[in-house]
Parts: sequence; structure tokens; C-alpha cells
Amino acid sequence: MEDEQIHKPVLRKEVLEYLVQPHAERIVDGTLGAGGHAGAILEACPGARMLGIERDPEMLTIARENLSDSADRVEFVQGKYSDMARLCEEYGWQRVDGVLLDLGVCSYHLDSAERGFAHRYDGPLDMRFDRRSEGTAAELLNHASEDELRRILAEYGEERKAKKLAKAIVQRREKRPWMRTGELKELVASVVGRGQGGGLPPATRTFQALRIAVNDELRELEKGLTAAVNILKEKGRLVVISFHSLEDRRVKRFFREEAASCVCPPEIPECRCGKTARLSVLTKKPVRCRPEEKEDNPRAGSARLRAAEKLPDER
Ligand SMILES: C[S@@+](CC[C@H](N)C(=O)[O-])C[C@H]1O[C@@H](n2cnc3c(N)ncnc32)[C@H](O)[C@@H]1O
Repeated sequence: MEDEQIHKPVLRKEVLEYLVQPHAERIVDGTLGAGGHAGAILEACPGARMLGIERDPEMLTIARENLSDSADRVEFVQGKYSDMARLCEEYGWQRVDGVLLDLGVCSYHLDSAERGFAHRYDGPLDMRFDRRSEGTAAELLNHASEDELRRILAEYGEERKAKKLAKAIVQRREKRPWMRTGELKELVASVVGRGQGGGLPPATRTFQALRIAVNDELRELEKGLTAAVNILKEKGRLVVISFHSLEDRRVKRFFREEAASCVCPPEIPECRCGKTARLSVLTKKPVRCRPEEKEDNPRAGSARLRAAEKLPDER
């Protein structure tokens, strides 16, 4: 498969603009994927080494192939970006010049029926980034309580008919266990209808919700953002690309909190919290793709990039 077919890196130019600094020596790509961004970063920073972290062993194999020309400058690591501080330490890296997180799935995931991420194809209800880890989407659908399913659909899918859908999922599994994405897609269409969600296929929200739950993606993000700030050196850059509002809201809130130097209530005359700002936010608003990029790669249409710079430790 051509790597262009596997994954087109979104906001490539903008990632380079915010992440890359000429003197950079060490950069972490926490979501290596097919290595699209990584290749561009390595080309733009000829003196830099990269720690490329990828949760999915299959994607890591693809990245190794795509980055074979720069392989001597990349440590390929199968793991989770929330563990980046420990992983950096294992490679003797104390502080880094940049961290990139390009969240979510690759085109490869959405184009592989057997991974169960896409409602476009019929496949097993899997959705794990790492197929050696426990807990597939089918297991979740077959064993979670109705209330837990409702919460997942409402919170992670922002599904308005979460209660009705959770009930239907439980009723259906009493007859036979959930196994295939096609069966789920049909049930969602019958419960939610076809007209919801601003033109999105009705199963989009359900599949997003299950994927987030199966991979515990929001907790990963919270832990990963904190880890990234901890390992950045002064003036190091953190760039995060998210693809839905659940992620972007968390990134925005995290940046705001890390950029605040005092969180004492306004009625207290003197600061007692002792908090110091650790980040300076570089993007007042999220950066969106240019119309030409959206035309070329529709997935880029929902991408939002936020970037921040690490402030000195003691201020
Ligand atoms: C949008 S893709 C990244 C694409 C990449 N920037 C490129 O240009 O090829 C996101 C990748 O992150 C991986 N991933 C998801 N959660 C992860 C985690 N917690 N830790 C590490 N990798 C993760 C996915 O398997 C997927 O390959």
C-alpha cells in the first residue's frame, strides 16, 4: 500500500510551524501512526532524534517502513503516550524540545474492516488499538450494564437518544451476543433514525463512543498532556491535534489551567495557592485546515490544532 493511501498527515505545515525549532535535539511523536508527521519533522530538523510512540503494533510496522530512510534517528516504541515520561527515561532522555499528539485513528484503522473501527464495513466489534490488550467493543456491549452503556453513549458520543439506544442494545444481547459492526449499525439506524447529527451517518456517534471507552482515550489524553508538560524543556513546544469537541475541550481547558499563575478565589487579597504558570499558549483559537487541504483530505475538516510553549521551571 502506498503510504499516501495509509494516512495523510493533517495540518502538516502548521505542525511544523508550531513544533519545529531549528536547534531541536529531541522530539516525541506520541502518536506515530504511519509516520507522516514524523517524516516531515525529521526532515525539518536534521539534527533531531525522535521517540516515536505508537499503541498499535500494526501501525508501528507501517511507520518503520515509511521512516526507513531516517531510521537511525528514530526510536520506535510500542506503547501509550501517557507513559512518555517513563519511556523517555528508558532511552536516557531527560527533557525534550517538542511533543506532538495527533489524536484518534489513522485512515488505516478506518479502512480495515477486521479492526472494527468503521461502520462503513462489516467486521468484528473489536476497536482496540492494541489487539493484545483486554476488552473489545463486543465484550463491552455484551457485559456492561444498561446504565453504563447509556453513560458511554451520552458522554463519549454525545448521543441524544443514549437511553433508548442502551436499552435496545441490552434487549438485543439477551437474544444473541453482539459480534459484528454491521449488526450494531443496523440497530443504531433503527433506534436513532437516519436524519440525526448534521448529516453524519447515525452510527458515527455510537462508534466514536465505543472506541473512546474501549481504549480509555480521554483518560489517556489527560495523563498524556500532563506527562508532556513535565518532560518539555524551557521553550519546548507541545502541539495537539484533536478531531472532536470532547478532546478539544480537554486540551483547551488543560492549556488554560497550565497557563494560569494563580487559582486563588478573587476575594482573597494575596495569592495562597503557590501555583506557577507552566505554559504559554501560542494559539488563541484552534488552528483549522485551509480549504484546499479539506478538499484533498476530508478528514482534515474536523481537525483542530492547539499549541503551547513551556515556560521556565522557576518563575
Ligand atoms: C491520527 S493517527 C496519527 C497519524 C500520524 N500523525 C501520521 O502522520 O501518520 C493517531 C495514532 O495514534 C495511535 N494512538 C491512539 N492512542 C494512542 C496512545 N494512547 N498512545 C500511543 N498511540 C496512540 C493510533 O493507533 C493511531 O495510529
